[in-house]
Amino acid sequence: MKNTTVEQEKQRLLEELLLGLRQPQKMLPSKYFYDEIGSSLFEDICALREYYPTRTEIGILRDNINAITGRLGRRCLLIEYGSGASVKIRLLLDHLRNIAAYVPIDISADHLLNATEELRKEYPRVKIFPVPADYTQDFDLPEIDAPFNRRVVFFPGSTIGNFMPDQARGFLRHIAEVVGTDGGLLIGVDRKKSLSVLEAAYNDSKGVTADFNLNMLVRLNNEYNADFDLDAFRHEAVYNGVYGRIEMHLISKREQLVQIGSEQISFHSGESILTEYSYKYHPEEFAAIAKPWFHVDTVWTDAHGWFSVQYLTVR
Ligand code: AVI
Repeated sequence: MKNTTVEQEKQRLLEELLLGLRQPQKMLPSKYFYDEIGSSLFEDICALREYYPTRTEIGILRDNINAITGRLGRRCLLIEYGSGASVKIRLLLDHLRNIAAYVPIDISADHLLNATEELRKEYPRVKIFPVPADYTQDFDLPEIDAPFNRRVVFFPGSTIGNFMPDQARGFLRHIAEVVGTDGGLLIGVDRKKSLSVLEAAYNDSKGVTADFNLNMLVRLNNEYNADFDLDAFRHEAVYNGVYGRIEMHLISKREQLVQIGSEQISFHSGESILTEYSYKYHPEEFAAIAKPWFHVDTVWTDAHGWFSVQYLTVR
């Protein structure tokens, strides 16, 4: 029975992938980046000199940690969207006074349980309630047997930038529902900046982002018996100033036919598959997107004004 469900889910994902590849602008969903190899490549990206968001966000958190944890207050129930493996959550756990509980939510159950085990060793006094779930869908928060003053969602990394603005609105509405009255949102939001800094961050000189992008095709080959020739595609990330977003593409180097399942997809030379958007926001643009549900309490930024960490409260 279970196998049928796994098979059905695989078939559903194949349909979703094919649907994207049949569009005039071919597309693959960015959630498909993150298998084990993709997640590990993403960690490598975060450590790259050109990829400023991770180190800049950590710097902002570090430089303002007392002000940030002061806004979250005592007895806060901290809910992290994405796994709690990073230095960012440790900074918060080190400084939050009397945290009521910490609830990490992640789609990868293995990853989540490993991260929780580590954190439980390091923070034996913190109550941790891991929730293996896709945080973009509805999920149930566990029963928390600890009194708390407010719920706060922590959503670092500017992952909000990977949503289209309309999806971002829907997602913020969902977060407002999860945290409820008096709730808050501590979120990392990448800012607009010079083209050269942006494009270097997504076209790094070591080619790690290229491998991360091409890994989508490796997955299609391995999981769906596709026959993408990896040498016949190249990675390219461009900043689209009209929409204020990085666009990640895989570009066909020649005219070719690719088989996926029972379908053949044709590419002409130079044709691209769009794999990801990464939107960049001026603080006032982000405030406008969040406005129906959240009031922006504080925006912290770095000396270059490249990245922001923002605390928003429910209206
Ligand atoms: C996860 N996300 C915020 C990253 C970003 O910067 O949009 C994903 C990424 N894609 C290429 N490099 C990093």
